Amino acid sequence: MATAQHLPPLWDAFLRELAEVSTNDALTELRDKYLSRSRGAVTLELKKLGQLPAEERPQAGKLLNQLKVQVEEALAEKAREISDRERSARYENERLDVTLPGYAHHIASRHPIRRALEEMEQIFVSMGFSVMSGPEVELDYYNFEALNIPKGHPARDAQDTLYITENLLLRAHTSPVQIRTMEKQKPPVRIIAPGRVFRRDAVDATHSPMFHQMEGLVVDEGITLADLKGTLEMFLKAFFSEDTRIRLRPSYFPFVEPGAEVDVSCIFCGGTGCGICKQSGWIEIMGAGMVNPRVFQILGYDHEKYSGFAWGMGVDRIVMLKYQVEDLRLLFDNDIRFLSQF
Ligand code: DAH
Repeated sequence: MATAQHLPPLWDAFLRELAEVSTNDALTELRDKYLSRSRGAVTLELKKLGQLPAEERPQAGKLLNQLKVQVEEALAEKAREISDRERSARYENERLDVTLPGYAHHIASRHPIRRALEEMEQIFVSMGFSVMSGPEVELDYYNFEALNIPKGHPARDAQDTLYITENLLLRAHTSPVQIRTMEKQKPPVRIIAPGRVFRRDAVDATHSPMFHQMEGLVVDEGITLADLKGTLEMFLKAFFSEDTRIRLRPSYFPFVEPGAEVDVSCIFCGGTGCGICKQSGWIEIMGAGMVNPRVFQILGYDHEKYSGFAWGMGVDRIVMLKYQVEDLRLLFDNDIRFLSQF
């Protein structure tokens, strides 16, 4: 039994089988076949060494051990090959096309009313006004009584006002913030009060039970109607355009005297007359006037010393003019197709 002579054929056989191996399982099987302790072909040859004549043993042992090392190295090399191949196959499967267009993200935008309010506030703040707010659920006293709207006044009619109890209601205008401000603060007062107001109106293109107003109030010594007109003109020129003109028409509100409706020259036709201004060249956007001394008396302001003016503008109306929105409902429906244009 000349072991050394078995070696080249054994090595050749191993190489042939190794060449067929392409998976880890097959590789394990091949390793067992040649190197397993109990039945590996190389192991068995090593076990047979003892049967050789003593003088042949060292040489044969050396060759056999070399073979064992060669087999181990070849198996390890194969294992590396297999894992390299598997890794590249995985990379190939996971290949990403980074040039594919991504998903479009929806970017939110500010609501046109919010946008206009912020711009309006900014203009008034730059003119020295502070921004105030008041509750939407209001007491009769602030909404009516202190504004010189006594019991029995038509504006108090349940047809127009949303009452919660006899004394509690959803404020019908932002004017109660005038009273709340003057209760807390002594003149000089220069505030605006934007916010939501509520009335018992059916919804149509120009009406909504909830809408927005921005109140204004200035109280100091020596305030005149000219200050009212100048302030509003300055605001409207800044908000709409430099060539915007305003017009005051006498009107009546119990908390101002004299009172007025304020019109702006039509934003669309510049005053020459069009469908939007009903050929008049003017669009009404607020009520205003000189604070009625009776209101000062109710609040304990010295009406001999102080005078003031106030206004309440229709914010939604102004938004519709600014952004050329023809139906008020668009501002409240929250249709994303409409809102995403702003
Ligand atoms: N509060 C009034 C309304 O809602 C509007 C108004 C008119 C406010 C004249 C004022 C004012 O401050 O002076 O119809």
